[in-house]
Amino acid sequence: MTTTKGLEGIVATTSAISSIHNDVLTYRGYSIEDLAEQATFEEVVYLLWNGELPDAVQLREFRSNLANNATVPDEIYDLIKALPHQKVHPMAVLRTAVSALGVLDEQADDMDEKTNKQKAIRIQAKISTIVTAFSRIRQGLEPVAPRKDLGFAANFLYMLKGKEPSTVAARTFDKALILHADHELNASTFTARVCVATLSDIYSGVTAAIGALKGPLHGGANEQVMRMLDKITSISEADFFIEDALAKKQKIMGFGHRVYKNGDPRARIQKKMAEELTQDSGEEKLYLLSAHIEELIRNRKGLLPNTDFYSATIYHTLGIETDLFTPVFAVSRTSGWVAHILEQLGDNRLIRPRAEYNGQPYRAYVPVDAR
Ligand code: ACO
Repeated sequence: MTTTKGLEGIVATTSAISSIHNDVLTYRGYSIEDLAEQATFEEVVYLLWNGELPDAVQLREFRSNLANNATVPDEIYDLIKALPHQKVHPMAVLRTAVSALGVLDEQADDMDEKTNKQKAIRIQAKISTIVTAFSRIRQGLEPVAPRKDLGFAANFLYMLKGKEPSTVAARTFDKALILHADHELNASTFTARVCVATLSDIYSGVTAAIGALKGPLHGGANEQVMRMLDKITSISEADFFIEDALAKKQKIMGFGHRVYKNGDPRARIQKKMAEELTQDSGEEKLYLLSAHIEELIRNRKGLLPNTDFYSATIYHTLGIETDLFTPVFAVSRTSGWVAHILEQLGDNRLIRPRAEYNGQPYRAYVPVDAR
């Protein structure tokens, strides 16, 4: 048996959803550059789940389906209120709340394809409501009910702040959601596929994926980037901070990638977005600091930013709390998880690899008194 640590380079499945080839990322054949520039998040979700972009009628129907399903049952608000609010990570709350949604859905275990697609809509629609409700409840505020007349991205910002976002903020957030929607067989997506390949339900698959996304080597990195930027108060301090971290062999969050060795194409788009957004808001300092750190790490380690690096500047400038960065990632990536869950169930086989045993050789049992 041969093993590869971290399954590096192992092709574990075929998939028609997204592709990374020569450092170009596509969803169903469309480049993320084109989708980020021209599509909306709702169009991208439809594309990921159905294989084709919707026409105008299909899009209208899909949008209203999402909007009509965004309200969460009272039990979910009660649950969020009952959980601790301080020193608890919003990703842990999200993981718990999505699991609870499954408990409350009478169709949770119905594995029929049509029902699974309806459940997919319900999860995608409700996840924004859960994340924003937690943010408000922990501040002692009432959750804001979703609005049917707003798009997915604008609705998230509206429920978070209680006021309609500007056009620039809504469009920037929409683009950010598009860029995080899917990414081939990343750790959380693989987790979702492994989970449902046992023929477990879609809620279990998304709950498991949220758990995997939470870690700082994956989705949790965007929050850690912001925490690092918060510690560096000026560009002149950045050189010392980064040198010190590298000398201590610490990983710099938001840099490096298992697959992209010549740079993450999402980061290139996000860098431009961060620059434009901060110029628009008159708060360019964070962007300039981030761009300086990018230069430093490139020169010192030859490492390039991944999608989490400039996400931090974008989300912070949009007024999103730092510990909500990873839940925001989950709001978007739910679309990709669901696409992969549906694909896995469409042609399923249990995922059960082997491990090469490197423990004790065969030995005789010793009774407790004789040990
Ligand atoms: N800072 C400093 N050194 C790094 C970094 C980094 N961010 N990333 C990689 N390296 C170094 C490693 O120390 C290692 O050096 P060595 O060979 O001298 O020991 C070498 O580059 C290879 O790194 P690995 O960790 O083995 O690479 P792997 O492919 O396993 O990990 C990962 C990829 C997890 C993304 C890694 O680059 C990392 O930890 N980055 C920081 C966390 C992060 O930003 N995660 C988000 C990834 S994108 C996403 O999931 C959405």
